[in-house]
Formats: sequence, structure tokens, C-alpha cells
Amino acid sequence: MRLDKFLTECGVCSRREAARCARSGRVLVNGEVCRDGARHIDPEKDRVVFAGKELCYRRFVYVMLNKPAGLVSATDDARETTVLSLLPEDLRRRELFPCGRLDKDTTGLLILTDDGASAHRRLSPRHHAEKTYRFRTLPPLSAADLPVLEAGVLLDDGYRTLPCRVTADGEDGRGTITLTEGKYHQIKRMMEAVGTRIVELERVSFAGIRLDPALAPGFWRYLSPEEEALFTGEAGPDGP
Ligand code: URA
Repeated sequence: MRLDKFLTECGVCSRREAARCARSGRVLVNGEVCRDGARHIDPEKDRVVFAGKELCYRRFVYVMLNKPAGLVSATDDARETTVLSLLPEDLRRRELFPCGRLDKDTTGLLILTDDGASAHRRLSPRHHAEKTYRFRTLPPLSAADLPVLEAGVLLDDGYRTLPCRVTADGEDGRGTITLTEGKYHQIKRMMEAVGTRIVELERVSFAGIRLDPALAPGFWRYLSPEEEALFTGEAGPDGP
């Protein structure tokens, strides 16, 4: 990999600034000043230091975000603020994208990555990744609605949903639903199919990765190695 690309991917500078950054003399490769941005380095073996700090190369980046309401889960949008606005500049340079979409008013677990192949696999209907949401409906679901939703309901476009799991927690309309698919506005449309309406929706897990309860809405952290393995499919039989 070229040194200028490496500097950009480590979040040191933008692609445009990379050549100037190398020329500044603040970059050491294996202990020696290197001013040539075009120099090829091995990110696994060579030691690169910038401004006295050793750079740690991540081939792919995986981020857990607790999405707040009001932002769209897209990489750019002409009118709306996107979830990427919550990430620092160095991560935005990595051109991360959200793995799947949550509606603007939905909150909770969103994974952002630049690992296109794993994201594609996780989202593929063939892999049936489980997604669990906490919800509140008005009016509350009745006991009779639960088996109807679980068996699959006919949506407004004629699509019949796959079997899922639903629980209702009490009289204030709260419950959980676990799906293995992700059609457009699926949960909202499923609830409408049984005569009720979603007023709160939060994703709490995706493909075995649970929303970190220590992460306040609007905050992010890197996935742990165990979570990364769940996401990439290196954790077991659900893998590639
Ligand atoms: N189902 C919905 O209706 N909205 C979401 O954001 C996610 C699932």
C-alpha cells in the first residue's frame, strides 16, 4: 500500500493532504524519515510513526452506533442530517456506510463499516440475520395479535412476512419483535396489518450483536473482537 493511502486510512489526514503530510518530515517508516508519499509499505509489517505516535492500521473498521431519532441512516442526503455526522473526521475519511437502514424516527443499534463483503453477507436474506427491536404500539397488541404476527401477516403490497417472534410486556403497549428479514418499514407495516401503530421503535440487537447499554443515543464505539467475529461470520456456523 502507498504511504499516502496508509496515512489517510489511519485517519492522519485527508487524501488531498497526504502528500504534503509525508513531505513534512513528520513520518518515520521503520525509524527513518520518509518524505515520499508514493513509497510502498506493508501495513502488517512496517512500523509507521506520525508526529511521534505509532499508527495502527485497521484493514476494516466496524463501529456500533446508538442511533438517535431525527437522523437518516444514509451516507449522504441533500436535505437531512445523516448518522455519519456523529462520527469524528478521521472515521468519516474511511467512508463508512451503515449496514442496513433504520427509519429516521427509529433509534438504537446501527453498525457502520467499510467492509462491503461482510455487510452484504449480513444483509443477505439467505443468511437470516436476526434483528430484535423494542417497540411501543398504540393501542397495545392484544394476546390474539401475537400468534398472527408470528405466523406472518400480509402487508399492504401483498407480501407475506416470514415467521418471527413477538412478545408483549404489559399494558402500555411495549414489547419485542425478532425478525430475520428487513423489508421497507416492515415492523410499522406489520403492526398496521393487525390494526395498531408503532409509536416507539428501537433496535436492540443485530446478528447476535447487542446494543451496548453504556452507549447513550448519539454515541459510538468500535466493535469488540467478539462482535467483529459475529459480524464478519468468523464466529461460527452462521459464517460465510
Ligand atoms: N421496521 C420499521 O418499520 N422501521 C425500522 O426502522 C426498522 C424496522
